[in-house]
Amino acid sequence: MSPIPNLTLNNGIKFPAIGHGSWSGTTPDKQAESLEWLKSALKAGYRHIDTAQDYQTEKYVGIAIRESGIPREEIFVTTKLPWNHHTRVAKSFQDSLEFLGIDYIDLYLMHWPQAVLYDENNSQPTNPDGSLITTDHSFNDTWADIEKLLDTGKVRAIGVSNLSIKNLERLLKTAKVVPAVNQVELHPYLAQNDLLQFCQEKGIILTAYAATGYSYVRDDPLMVQLGKKYDVSPTQVTLAWHLARGTTAVPKSTNFERQKQNLTLPELNEEDIKRISGLDKNQRLCNKADELGKVWGWTYEQLGW
Ligand SMILES: NC(=O)c1ccc[n+]([C@@H]2O[C@H](COP(=O)([O-])OP(=O)(O)OC[C@H]3O[C@@H](n4cnc5c(N)ncnc54)[C@H](OP(=O)(O)O)[C@@H]3O)[C@@H](O)[C@H]2O)c1
Repeated sequence: MSPIPNLTLNNGIKFPAIGHGSWSGTTPDKQAESLEWLKSALKAGYRHIDTAQDYQTEKYVGIAIRESGIPREEIFVTTKLPWNHHTRVAKSFQDSLEFLGIDYIDLYLMHWPQAVLYDENNSQPTNPDGSLITTDHSFNDTWADIEKLLDTGKVRAIGVSNLSIKNLERLLKTAKVVPAVNQVELHPYLAQNDLLQFCQEKGIILTAYAATGYSYVRDDPLMVQLGKKYDVSPTQVTLAWHLARGTTAVPKSTNFERQKQNLTLPELNEEDIKRISGLDKNQRLCNKADELGKVWGWTYEQLGW
C-alpha cells in the first residue's frame, strides 16, 4: 500500500489526491445524515472534502470540520457555484462561506457550464416539457466573475466541473486564469482519455466523480479478479487506477470501514493499469441524458460529450 499523494495545482497549492464526497440526497433529512459520515471521514483520515452549494451539505461539512478539532488549514475544502447562480457569483460565493462557516475556500468550482434561470423560490425552474430553463448567459462571463474572487483572498484556487474539451477550449479563449481542476464523471467505464490528455497539456488536474463506477465497475470480473490479486476490494483497485493515471478522486462512503479502505490503495503494475483502462466503454453512469436527450437542460452536443 502506498500513501495517498498530494498533487500540486497549477498555482502551486498542494491537495490530497483522494477527497471525500458530500452529496447526500435531496431531502433535508438525508442531507442532515451527512454530518455523521463526514465526521467519520475526517476520523478515517480524509483531509480533502468535496461539497457544493447545490448539495445543501455545506453546513454539515462546516460542523464536521469544527467538531473534528482538526485545524482548518489542514483540511482542503472544495465547493461549487450552482448552475442557477451564474449571474450572481459574488453573492453565491459569500453564501457558501457562510453556510460552511469558514473564512476561505480552498477550491471553488463552476459546477456546470450551463446557466439555469435564477428564481429565488425555485432552484430548478422548468419548461413545460419538464427540462430545466437554461439561459444564454455565457460561461465565459461566469468564469470572469469567478476569477475576480481570487482578489478577495477568500479562495485559494478556482476550477470547473463537467467541462468537455469543446467547452474548455471555449473557456480558455477568454480566461485570464487557467482552471486548476476540472471535476468530471470518470471511472474505468468512462476513462475520458482524450480529456485527460488535453487537461494534462493545459496543466488542469482532472478530479473523478462517480469515481468508484458504482456496482457496474465493482462487479466487473476484471476488477473482482484484480481485487483478489492485490488482496483489496475492487473499489480500492479502481481508486488506485485513478491515482496511477495522475487524476484525483472524491469517492463517498457512509461507512467508516469503506472510508478507510478508500484511503488504503495498492500500487498497480503497468499491465494491470492498461487492462483496467481497456474496460472503457464511454459509458456514463451518473449524469446521463434524460428522455428529452438533455442533461440538466443541455444536450450532449452543447456539453461537448
Ligand atoms: N461535479 C459534479 O457534477 C458531481 C456529480 C456527482 C458527484 N459529485 C461528487 O462526487 C462524490 C461522489 O460521487 P458518487 O457518490 O456519485 O460516486 P461514488 O463515490 O463513486 O459512489 C458512492 C457509492 O459507492 C459506494 N462505495 C464507496 N466506497 C466503496 C467501497 N470501498 N466498496 C464498496 N462500495 C463503496 C458507496 O456506498 P456506501 O456509502 O454504502 O459505502 C456509495 O453507494 C459526491 O458525493 C460529490 O461530492 C460531483
